Amino acid sequence: MMRRPEIPERKTLMLKTFSRFVVLLIASMTASAQPVAAFNQSTKIFRLDGGDVSYVFGVNSRGELQQLYWGGRLGANDHFPQAEPMREWASFDSSYTTTPQEYAGWGAGLFVEPALKVTFADGNRDLVLHYESHVVTPDGFDVVLKDIQRAVFVTLHYSMDPKMGILARSATIENREAQPITIEQAAAAAWALPAGNYTLNYLTGRWAGEWTLNQETLRPGERLIESRRGSTSHQANPWFAIQAGAPDENHGEVWFGALAWSGSWRITVEKDQLDAVRVTGGFNPFDFGYVLHPGESLETPEFYGGYSPDGLGGASRILHHYEIAHILPHRMGEGDNAAPRPRPVIYNSWEATEMNVTEAGQIALAEKAAALGVDRFVMDDGWFGQRKTDHAGLGDWYVNPVKFPHGLKPLIDKVHALGMDFGLWVEPEMVNPDSDLYRKHPDWVLNFPGRPRSEERNQLVLNLARPDVRAYVFGFLDKLLTENDIAFLKWDYNRNWSEPGWDQLPPNEEKKVYVEFTRNLYGILAELKKRHPKVEFESCSGGGGRVDLGILKYADEVWPSDNTDPFDRLTQQDGFTYAYTPQIMMAWVTDSPHWLNKRSTSLEYRLLSSMQGSLGIGANITKWNDEEMATAKRLIAAYHQVQRTIVQGDLYRLISPRDGSEFSATQTVNRDKSQSVVFAFIHSTQEGRGFPRLKLMGLDPAAEYTLAPIEGKAAKDTPETASGAWWMNHGLEMSDDFRGDFQAAAFRLDRK
Ligand code: DGJ
Repeated sequence: MMRRPEIPERKTLMLKTFSRFVVLLIASMTASAQPVAAFNQSTKIFRLDGGDVSYVFGVNSRGELQQLYWGGRLGANDHFPQAEPMREWASFDSSYTTTPQEYAGWGAGLFVEPALKVTFADGNRDLVLHYESHVVTPDGFDVVLKDIQRAVFVTLHYSMDPKMGILARSATIENREAQPITIEQAAAAAWALPAGNYTLNYLTGRWAGEWTLNQETLRPGERLIESRRGSTSHQANPWFAIQAGAPDENHGEVWFGALAWSGSWRITVEKDQLDAVRVTGGFNPFDFGYVLHPGESLETPEFYGGYSPDGLGGASRILHHYEIAHILPHRMGEGDNAAPRPRPVIYNSWEATEMNVTEAGQIALAEKAAALGVDRFVMDDGWFGQRKTDHAGLGDWYVNPVKFPHGLKPLIDKVHALGMDFGLWVEPEMVNPDSDLYRKHPDWVLNFPGRPRSEERNQLVLNLARPDVRAYVFGFLDKLLTENDIAFLKWDYNRNWSEPGWDQLPPNEEKKVYVEFTRNLYGILAELKKRHPKVEFESCSGGGGRVDLGILKYADEVWPSDNTDPFDRLTQQDGFTYAYTPQIMMAWVTDSPHWLNKRSTSLEYRLLSSMQGSLGIGANITKWNDEEMATAKRLIAAYHQVQRTIVQGDLYRLISPRDGSEFSATQTVNRDKSQSVVFAFIHSTQEGRGFPRLKLMGLDPAAEYTLAPIEGKAAKDTPETASGAWWMNHGLEMSDDFRGDFQAAAFRLDRK
């Protein structure tokens, strides 16, 4: 049973007893004493301020919660009158449907996307939510809505970040009726923008082709961005950005949002009949049905929303910093200085050995990895059960006695003796039919009894929603981490759902699997982190199939794609960074020619492509010669020196690699503007064109910066030291011989 939400009735009643003619300002204050949340009792206006952003909504004269403003920060004394519902648009579009509600129930003639749709036990499906009460919380509000007749309560949670202006929203839906209700659709939040011309940005992809940025004019009607697959998906990612007018990296208003959910999700972007825009996101209503018994409640995931006046670049910089400050597990510092640890440079065995892992083979790789200056050695798939190919072994999490006759200890000890920590691959939610686990518990997988069970990669999905499966998965992981000195788990997930039955529950409740599976995934991760606080996790799903702000509350990093081609990665990394910080963006250097595209590239090019994120090595380094070892060692050492700036600084995408661009370039600047790192790539020089002069961004114009090459050369007459103004206005020019196919250069600038 879900926990009943805390709806603090006493405090809210007190609020309601004040005279409606007295203006009552209730402000919640941050540590810096800036008001974040204010409620005006006479106008019934709620206002949230953070960073350069204001968000305003109010109780309209009909009693609905109506969105009024989301954008640049308003003056402290700016005032809104009480909200008035929008007028009806002829008899075909009632005022209920034209009014942008904060959280609209499906009822009373609503034709736009509802936030909540329910069926009552008596067949009634009409739900009209009106304001009931609210409380002020430390960084926002909890606002309670209730159906006009029935005891269905929805508490909307609003939490404003005082620095970055990102608003976290979610809802708790509670049934206080005497009969069960079925929730057929439940959003975390709905966002609204006034009528206008906008560009919608969203990310799509496929296996080995994730992170394509799509930019299209928002047209009337509804655009669905979703996953029906039981997990986040490669095919679409739960992030959007809407820009006023045409797409622009550096200028213009952008509203963006990201949903923190790793199960099936949906974000709808509508341009309604009056050209206004609404974005509604939460659980995917496809095949959804969550029965709430009397007294039970359902909590939605969080939907984060932000605003930037500085184009898509400004939007992603805000989101990156928010992820670093508020989403990712913190490993360093305290309070305001708390931050995730820059990722250790890893070695991963997958592309070198695939499943043919042995003690001797892994030790040979570990010795070479240590010589390169790698911090962490990760053994990938193949070490457990009867895992020789992908036909067997998943589910049987004992160490394979042929491959590792003395267990994992000799390998782990060796890795430690070489000065690295040790990480291991697992795929906890899956089972091969050819496994002891499946032979013992064939009922543990998602299935409809009597129906075929569709295999993908010869595996089935364990039903993690089941308490016994959850206990098994937690149990073996806890044992693995207790018995072995493991610093890191790469948590993989290599297929999507099919036949999502859960026959332990009554037929009308089985669809709860869409929520409980993901909740149990988070629960296991939370419990493991409590019991093994030093262990770090990577979220991998055959590459980037499970990257979202929900999993990132537990995962320290992600595997963006199985595609490690360094040229493809430039575009993928570009798309990835619209939504996610380079801090979590693992990028391995692998062998050339690349297995996927058969493209040959230099080791320097491969290293620089990966150095734009969190660097790793995934090549068969036992085959590397002295020269290759020396190149990699030199660039790994250079990376270590500037890594924090690259992965936690302000990212400027100077030249996009998208759309077949001949060139691309990025720049990052650290928080105090004392260091900056620039990467430049040539796809293929044509007609002798030189690399464009790079006008840098984000530096302190008055400070002096010294330029030092990491790889490649600047133009002959480039000053060694110049002002931030010079680098930003005149720009950085590449050497004349920076031409050819798949060329790369990198520079650092340090404040004098
Ligand atoms: C998919 C992952 O994305 C790869 O990196 C590797 O771990 C394989 N699974 C192993 O089966």
